[in-house]
Amino acid sequence: MQIRPAAALTGALIGMSALFLPTAAAQADGHPHHHTVTVAHRGASGYAPENTLAAVDAADDLGIDWVENDVQRTKDGELIVMHDTTLSRTTNVEEVFPDRAPWNISDFTLDEIEKLDAGSWFGADFQGETVPTLEEYMDRVSDNHQKLLLELKSPELYPGIERQTLRELRREGWLDHRHKRRLIVQSFNAEAMRTVHRLRPDVKTGFLGTPAVADLPEYAEFSDQINPSYKTIDADYVAAVRAVDGAHGKPLEVYTWTVNDGPSAVSVAGMGVNGIITNKPDVVRDALDDAS
Ligand code: G3P
Ligand code: CA
Repeated sequence: MQIRPAAALTGALIGMSALFLPTAAAQADGHPHHHTVTVAHRGASGYAPENTLAAVDAADDLGIDWVENDVQRTKDGELIVMHDTTLSRTTNVEEVFPDRAPWNISDFTLDEIEKLDAGSWFGADFQGETVPTLEEYMDRVSDNHQKLLLELKSPELYPGIERQTLRELRREGWLDHRHKRRLIVQSFNAEAMRTVHRLRPDVKTGFLGTPAVADLPEYAEFSDQINPSYKTIDADYVAAVRAVDGAHGKPLEVYTWTVNDGPSAVSVAGMGVNGIITNKPDVVRDALDDAS
């Protein structure tokens, strides 16, 4: 699907106006009310190095309670938080280990990865920031009373990472009944998500991508969300997704990414998405509040 044509955009904006009409409750308490969740993508990665504890804290400082991350596995089997499958872009690995090209995460032990600077590439203020383990990351999210949209990144590279991640989540208490509302697990890999749902059918799950409408019932067998790039959706697609019940019998939700400006956020909210994943969560949150 291509970017929405102008006519569709106009329709979406009209729909948006209706969606964001202030409710009586909003007028009574003076606060805007809308139900679109803002998720800090790789943490508040517009303001701090992605997928670090600093990015989690930056989201918290902005009052954002949902953070998204990416989980992969080291050579010695430890779960860490990083987006790329190589260490090059977001650490100084090429300086520290010049002879270890192509610097795949899976070729480095945790001890080696913990020697890397994962902050300086973003800015001098973040020098010394490290690559967090999933455990460290979850601890910080918990300490901040935040919620986690956890992506299994490239799970096809890491056999068994679904079970391992669920085990670690359980050990950290994230699968306890009272905490489950604070967690969604997602992936671009449908088989990985099918596995997560089979192993822990109680966990809320999302499929990353834009499946054909005809295929949605198949994805709904193991997903509660369909999470597409905002460049691939229009109001009709969002409505088609919402019309299908997900794995827990509720309408499939849509969390779209990566929306970094206010007008685009208001536009996709008008299409009826449930969540917006963004590097600049304050920009999105404020735009949605202003439009409500
Ligand atoms: O959560 C959505 C988004 O993270 C998917 O793309 O490449 O940033 O992991 P990517
Ligand atoms: Ca991600």
